[in-house]
Amino acid sequence: MLVTSKELLLDAQKNSYAVGAFNTNNLEITHAIIQAAEAKQAPVLVQISAGALKYAGPDFLPMIVAKAAKLASVPVAIHLDHGPDFETVMLSLRQGFTSIMRDASKLPYDGNVAEVRKVVEACHAIGIPVEAEIGKIGGAEEHVVVSEREATMSDPDECVRFVADAGFDFLAVAIGNAHGFYKGEPKLDFERLDEIRSKVDVPLVLHGASGIPDHQITEAVKRGICKINIDTEIRNAFIRTMQKFTEENPDQIDPRKVFKPCIAAMQDVVERKIEIFRSAGRA
Ligand code: G3H
Ligand code: ZN
Repeated sequence: MLVTSKELLLDAQKNSYAVGAFNTNNLEITHAIIQAAEAKQAPVLVQISAGALKYAGPDFLPMIVAKAAKLASVPVAIHLDHGPDFETVMLSLRQGFTSIMRDASKLPYDGNVAEVRKVVEACHAIGIPVEAEIGKIGGAEEHVVVSEREATMSDPDECVRFVADAGFDFLAVAIGNAHGFYKGEPKLDFERLDEIRSKVDVPLVLHGASGIPDHQITEAVKRGICKINIDTEIRNAFIRTMQKFTEENPDQIDPRKVFKPCIAAMQDVVERKIEIFRSAGRA
C-alpha cells in the first residue's frame, strides 16, 4: 500500500528501528526492493533521484513505482532523493511522490533554509513530508585531515537552528558517512550523532550507508537513525551478477533470463539490510 514516509519514520522513531530507503532506476530494481520488503514484511521507501527521473523518463519510473507500491502488501512510500530544485519537487508531487527531499546543503546556511522553507510550504499544504540536509555528506576520503573532516560534518547546534528555521520533517546528518563505496573502513562519529539526537526531535536520516559495516549500522540505529539510504550496494549486485551471468552464458540474449538472477541478487541485498535495520516484521 502507498503511504507517506511520515507515518513510517514516526513509527520507526517510536520503536527504535530504521526504515530502508532504496534507490531505483528501473523496473528490475523496483521489483527487487518490493519483493524483499514483502518477503521480510517490512515497510520501505523506494527512492528516485533527479538523475533516475532523467534516465528513465519523468513519467515512466514514478508510474512503475507507484503501481508497485499500491499493489504491495506492505507500506511503501515513494521518495524524491536529493531533490536539486523546486521544479523537480513540483514534478515529483505531480507524479504522486509521497515523500520529498530538498537537498540545498551545498548552499550557505541562509540559502539552505530559504530553499527548504519554500518546499516545506508547498509539500505540507498537501500533506507530504520533507527531508532536508545540513553538513556535507561525501567528505570522508582518507586524505581529508581531521579539522577538514569535522568542518564538513553536521554541527549539532546548527541542526537545532535548521529544524526550527526551516520547519521540515526529517534531518539528514553528516557524521562521517559518504556516498559510494568507502576507501578503507568508515568511522561514524557516534558522539556527534548522540549530541544531535539529544537536541533535535525530528527523525534522523543516514545517507551513504553502502559499505558501512553492520555493527556500525546497528549502533547508528540504536542511537536514533530512523531512515537509511542504500544505492551503491544494489547497483553493485545488479551489475556484478549480470557480468558473471553473461560470462557464463555468452549465448544468452533474452534479457528476462539475464535479469532474473540480477533481481534475486538485489533482493538478497535489500533483505539483508532490512534485517540489520531491524525493520523486518514491522509492516
Ligand atoms: O541518497 C542515496 C544514498 O545516500 C545512497 O548512498 O550509494 O552510498 O548507498 P550509497
Ligand atoms: Zn544520499
